Amino acid sequence: MWLSLAVNAALSLLGYYAAANIIPKFREMFLKANISGKDLNKANQPQIPEASGVISSCIFLIIMFIFIPVPFGNHLVYNKSSDFPYKEFVQFIAALLSICCMVFLGFADDVLNLRWRHKLYLPTIASLPLLMVYFVNINSTTIIVPKPLRILLGHDVDLGFLYYVYMGMLAVFCTNAINIYAGVNGLEVGQSLVIAASIILFNVVEITGDCWKYHLFSLYFMIPFFFTSLALFQYNKYPAAVFVGDTFCYFSGMTVAVVAILGHFSKTALLFFIPQIGNFIFSLPQLFHILPCPRHRLPKLHPESGLLRTSTFEYKEKSMSPLGRLVLKLYQMLGVVKVEKSNREDTYQATNCTLINLALKLFGPSHEKRLNARLLIFQVRRERKMDNVTSDIEILNEWT
Ligand code: UD1
Ligand code: MG
Repeated sequence: MWLSLAVNAALSLLGYYAAANIIPKFREMFLKANISGKDLNKANQPQIPEASGVISSCIFLIIMFIFIPVPFGNHLVYNKSSDFPYKEFVQFIAALLSICCMVFLGFADDVLNLRWRHKLYLPTIASLPLLMVYFVNINSTTIIVPKPLRILLGHDVDLGFLYYVYMGMLAVFCTNAINIYAGVNGLEVGQSLVIAASIILFNVVEITGDCWKYHLFSLYFMIPFFFTSLALFQYNKYPAAVFVGDTFCYFSGMTVAVVAILGHFSKTALLFFIPQIGNFIFSLPQLFHILPCPRHRLPKLHPESGLLRTSTFEYKEKSMSPLGRLVLKLYQMLGVVKVEKSNREDTYQATNCTLINLALKLFGPSHEKRLNARLLIFQVRRERKMDNVTSDIEILNEWT
């Protein structure tokens, strides 16, 4: 186990150096191929290569392909074919297949600019190989009921088919939650690094426990993911030299979903997504068009001060549905959205429903670099709190 981990860590370091070298070399190529986007929060809005996440994710995949024989080396060298761990082997390959599929679909999204509904289908499709392997190998759909609900539901419940729906939805959630918590240089990859570091820490703490095999499996994926993403972060942090693209958001979300599902800690993994869950729930009225949703909800640059301010959407009172009005009233009462009369007749403007805008509303305008640092520190603090919670409630034993 320790030798495999050492090889994995060495390959991850190599991956870091490879990604750090290759990403800048591909900048021109991406620009020539028109795979680029404007950095909207800079005064001159420079054209930046998009989808550079495809480089870090491909390096991740190459590392994993080279690494495949290592955990099974003992069986391969001594030819102990009778007790070869076929189940673990198939899980490993299926996990890579799902991640590979997601990178491909994410890159297609970056190049073709797919519609919003496709963003929901893509992770569902990519998670199918994983769910199939889960069905064949594990097929445990029984969950232990949290203590407060046991009087109502008993000690455990067999969710059956619904458990597969939950796992598919987890993949959709992880990928999209990272993708919509974005718009500030370094945030997409920064949040992924914090999540990966938290999972690595959680796995390391639990590796000596009964479920060590699951945590080892997770580490094999999370360590290379962390290092290749770290190289990408160097170029995506303020001022961004490259954008990570939806390719990276999908790749990142899928990698976490894969280890959470096959590592049997999907509920715990969600605890590492607290800011993303908050942002997702807050965004729901805009995502489902109960409130208008502009193409971009990222903050707006105030050119004179160089600081970012809240961005807004406009609406006419008459054209707003009763449900939309109710949601907006509720958000106003909670103080999470600010509504003002616009310059145009009969028109109002309200701040977009994102956590980034909420941070700007609560703490005032901020420089892009500082805003990203604050949001990442907020995520680190949540994770540390959640780490305590996980050990308190012995969440490790959540699934049978
Ligand atoms: C999601 C968000 C959208 C946000 C966008 C920015 C929802 C429903 N969608 O859309 O509100 O504006 O991400 O990532 O919440 N960009 C910057 N600076 C950055 C990152 C991105 O200016 O630090 C701009 C660039 O023009 C880049 C574009 O955003 O080309 C990428 O947007 P894309 O990833 O295609 O947007 P979505 O994921 O669809
Ligand atoms: Mg995106």
